[in-house]
Amino acid sequence: MRILLLGSGGREHALAWKIAQSEKCEKLFIAPGNAGTCTVGTNVSMKADDFEAIKQFVVSEAIDMVVVGPEDPLVKGIYDDLKADDRTKNVPVIGPSKAGAVLEGSKDFAKGFMQRHHIPTARYETFDGEHLQEGLAFLETLEAPYVLKADGLCAGKGVLILPTLDEAKKELKEMLGGMFGNASSRVVIEEFLSGIECSVFVLTDGKHYKILPEAKDYKRIGEGDTGLNTGGMGSVSPVPFATEEWMQKVDDRIIRPTVEGLKAEGIDYKGFIFFGLINVKGEPMVIEYNCRMGDPETESVMLRLKSDIVDLFEGVASGNLDQHAIEFDERAAVCVMLVSGGYPEAYKKGYPITGIDQVKGSVVFHAGTALNDGQIVTAGGRVIAVSSYGANKEEALQKSFEEAKKIQFTDRYFRRDIGKDLA
Ligand code: AMP
Ligand code: GLY
Repeated sequence: MRILLLGSGGREHALAWKIAQSEKCEKLFIAPGNAGTCTVGTNVSMKADDFEAIKQFVVSEAIDMVVVGPEDPLVKGIYDDLKADDRTKNVPVIGPSKAGAVLEGSKDFAKGFMQRHHIPTARYETFDGEHLQEGLAFLETLEAPYVLKADGLCAGKGVLILPTLDEAKKELKEMLGGMFGNASSRVVIEEFLSGIECSVFVLTDGKHYKILPEAKDYKRIGEGDTGLNTGGMGSVSPVPFATEEWMQKVDDRIIRPTVEGLKAEGIDYKGFIFFGLINVKGEPMVIEYNCRMGDPETESVMLRLKSDIVDLFEGVASGNLDQHAIEFDERAAVCVMLVSGGYPEAYKKGYPITGIDQVKGSVVFHAGTALNDGQIVTAGGRVIAVSSYGANKEEALQKSFEEAKKIQFTDRYFRRDIGKDLA
């Protein structure tokens, strides 16, 4: 098969790495990709949300399958756009329709969906600018801390957790006043849930589904989970508290009702569902849905997937995923993210990266890198994920930390406490 993968981050390099190992993959293109993806496929200079260019490329390169990495093209409707065009309508897209991507694109839709299908999640209400007073009154019925979520996509910045009622009221006014533009014209206010988070991933053809290895990501920039939120500083799989019994609850109460709910609502969904879960006193609850794989979770989860991912994608495309076997590597896998100094605030790009070729014991996934006259340089906040296997997470982490030291660039930073909070 000739496969086109859309996206340019660490998640996409990990997906590309896995796709390229498939015997079914004859040729892999990544658009736009990065300095890592071009080592396992061919980069195409095309934006992941330039639908016209993508369709032309699918036709001219006789692409057999399009795999969508990030949420943006999905929420904008890449699936529907390809289906609506006679030239590309028969090309399978791994990623949901626009109606399915709303699970991530609208927090209010996601909460309503969970309510309709009795899926455990925090109590909530949604308000628009015309109902500010009601929103302020609802805040008074909740206890601190307060959780405010912009309804629309905000590149991961749309959730505010406020310690006092006064701050929550002030932020609600600002959000509804246009703090995140149109994305915060509606705001979900919800109850705060206390517990440890865990990311669970499912691949579905709309009827059947396969659960992938779970992972935990580390969102804050500082050790001990302090400081600003980032795109993710590392990940660990498996997650010790996600026992067989806990995962059975997740399947029964969350995954199956979600897939059945999508089907019952007539929503076309062929792709990944990412369940952002929280373990509240042993009971799993949903914090959020995403319509794609997680980043940096993919950089550890792909290491644990033994099966041919293209074979699974074929099952997704043809609606017989139940007839495709899925196998996992029993070893632990982790990733440690090397980031640019200053990130997630202002940082410089363009620093040469050295030592990648010295790494022998880990898999290096590029996140924000570019090629400049043949030299690999930093091109983003999150630069490189160092992923490793181990008999257990301690062994895998030790390997990643050791190998990470070999990769050098100016002001490189990484958290040395990834996975240390888990038993
Ligand atoms: P989201 O963009 O929905 O993933 O929210 C970002 C982060 O905010 C989550 O990963 C959680 O750490 C936190 N968060 C969101 N909703 C809640 C909630 N109801 N209770 C506690 N923490 C939350
Ligand atoms: N790791 C969280 C995300 O991909 O949104």
